[in-house]
Amino acid sequence: MPRVSPSLHDADTLRLDALQALAGAALVLDKELRIVEVTEAAEQMLGAGVPIGALAPKILCGAGSKRPVAEALAEGRAIQTVIPHPGTTSERRVSIRTVPIGPVRARRGWVLLLEELPESGQAGVVELQGMWTQDAGMKDMFRIVKRVAASEATVLVRGETGAGKELVAHALHALSPRKDGPFYAINCAALPASLLESELFGHARGSFTGAVSDAVGHVQKAHGGTLFLDEVAELPLEVQAKLLRVLESRTVLPVGGRKPIPVDVRFVSATHRALRKEVEAGRFRGDLMYRLRVIPIFLPSLRARPGDVRLLVQVLMGEARKRGETRLEQVSPEALRLLERHDWPGNVRELKNVLAYAFALSDGPVLLPTDLPPELATSGRLELGPEPPKEIRRSADPEADRILRALDRSSGSRERAAKILGMSRVTLWRRMRALGLAPQPGQP
Ligand SMILES: Nc1ncnc2c1ncn2[C@@H]1O[C@H](COP(=O)(O)OP(=O)(O)O)[C@@H](O)[C@H]1O
Ligand SMILES: [Mg+2]
Repeated sequence: MPRVSPSLHDADTLRLDALQALAGAALVLDKELRIVEVTEAAEQMLGAGVPIGALAPKILCGAGSKRPVAEALAEGRAIQTVIPHPGTTSERRVSIRTVPIGPVRARRGWVLLLEELPESGQAGVVELQGMWTQDAGMKDMFRIVKRVAASEATVLVRGETGAGKELVAHALHALSPRKDGPFYAINCAALPASLLESELFGHARGSFTGAVSDAVGHVQKAHGGTLFLDEVAELPLEVQAKLLRVLESRTVLPVGGRKPIPVDVRFVSATHRALRKEVEAGRFRGDLMYRLRVIPIFLPSLRARPGDVRLLVQVLMGEARKRGETRLEQVSPEALRLLERHDWPGNVRELKNVLAYAFALSDGPVLLPTDLPPELATSGRLELGPEPPKEIRRSADPEADRILRALDRSSGSRERAAKILGMSRVTLWRRMRALGLAPQPGQP
């Protein structure tokens, strides 16, 4: 619940809710820079009990200089400041954007939008070999990766496409005693059996038409290092038999070769399929499965770790900014809602593509819903047809929930729903679009 004093009646709490729904962590200041309103999210960020009537620069910059905040207010620009974490000695870095209320000569006040930066040691954010997360399941996975990396055991990574399986394979290599050895990757889904065989095991000159010279395969190239077998479930059965022999004998026999060559390779494989099912269906050898999945590692999909969307957006946006690819610094609350609501079938890879789209479209500094690909606004759990699916009515988003209940009560009449909600029809329509409850402009 937002901070509510008993004197606040329904309309006031609705306004405060609306401010939070739109702006997230926000403060409203009067023209003397005194705090007039605080959303719940801002209170959590700043520590409970932000005193109404206090001077904002004092609260935001502690005993230090008040000038950065005051200057930023005057210029309407974003600043970054360090705020002591309430009750502890740690600090959080917060970015503050100011939105003026009223024209320059008749300034009535400001809205301050607060956003915590991920590098601040934000509660629970961890990084491993370029993988970022704040999700408990992912952190368990990180612990397993660290422990298993040193053991040199054969690992099978299972996860949806784009979830980061290749990154995990890299991490296993980089954290292993083989880190100075080679890392090779081969995509088992990309080549027909005969080519795959010679890519993996190499071939002797003259072993088939076109084999004009000896060729060293990936297994041999990875000697002393790690070989990553991506999409291993797609490996044709005849190649599976030969791979099994490599794993059992720790030697490789090139196509058309005579003498097996000893190899010292750590195998890491990945698949988006349940290998056991492939075995049951007769598409994958059971004995090979047991050899490959000595240690199975499960990588959760992005959908299953919703808090990571916001974190990854911040991290990836920051990296792109450093490379000079974007001027974006922040994500508007509506855009963030769309991102968090999306189902991400392509996981982090899809998120990267969506951000690349936003970098191309936006000239910053705030990422808006209109900078996102149109499918973001209409996809995911909140897709609204003529008859909204049941789970929408149990939406976790309080604003969407209220709007949907109002539409329900008015039997779908937007005009009456707007009256119930105390907003104009245009505002309702705009909110519905931002929440993914209505198609974006230019869409059917
Ligand atoms: N936790 C993460 N943090 C940062 N970047 C990630 C993370 N997971 C995946 N990525 C990035 O997303 C993209 C897809 O990851 P990748 O390992 O190729 O997925 P997969 O092999 O499962 O298809 C890559 O560009 C990768 O760097
Ligand atoms: Mg991959």
